[in-house]
Amino acid sequence: MSKEFIFLSELIERRRAVYPPFYRPEKIDKNLIIKILKNATWAPTHKRTEPWRFAVLTDTALQKLSAALMQYYVQNTSQELYAEAKHKKSGERPLQSACVLVICISRSSDSVIPAWEETAAVACAVQNMWLSASALGLGAYWSTPAAIKTLPKALGLPEDWECLGLFYMGWLKEGYPLLSERRAVDDVTIWLDS
Ligand SMILES: Cc1cc2nc3c(=O)[nH]c(=O)nc-3n(C[C@H](O)[C@H](O)[C@H](O)COP(=O)(O)O)c2cc1C
Repeated sequence: MSKEFIFLSELIERRRAVYPPFYRPEKIDKNLIIKILKNATWAPTHKRTEPWRFAVLTDTALQKLSAALMQYYVQNTSQELYAEAKHKKSGERPLQSACVLVICISRSSDSVIPAWEETAAVACAVQNMWLSASALGLGAYWSTPAAIKTLPKALGLPEDWECLGLFYMGWLKEGYPLLSERRAVDDVTIWLDS
């Protein structure tokens, strides 16, 4: 087995969803963010449509995102269900992160390509970013709250960008448990030999 395969397998297995309370407060160098985005853009796409789009939020833009998430909570929670603590919590994660990448899609006008294929291509790009972040020692995770549909407008993104989630990133605190489990390959596979 090649060293490359062993290295890649370990990297894939070690990648975890790491949440912002487990990030250290230091910033991430802009050049490093660009390298992560570059790896994202090497994802495969049917007909090479490259439908992914990203907005990079750092510094005060993170406060803007926090405010947008909090506003969504207020506008979409009935008076009976409203809780001050939940309201505050809804905007907490961007402020605990060094950088948030707003994962967007600009769908191709080519009607031959089904929408799911374009979405799948963006998911491939996100996995590239996630593995890259993990290899760099960054904690990261893909978040998909209902509020994401309001974000292109709230953040002033181009009109044809649809938001598929938020990719939170920050330097990983020591001691975060990187272990997880998966079902056995046999449980999810059927072999057909004839
Ligand atoms: C498309 C997608 C959407 C996700 N959305 C959320 C989310 O909204 N909130 C969350 O806590 N985790 C979210 N996750 C992360 C998963 O919870 C996480 O990957 C899963 O628990 C497995 O953990 P692991 O990635 O550490 O192996 C999402 C993952 C994917 C692929």
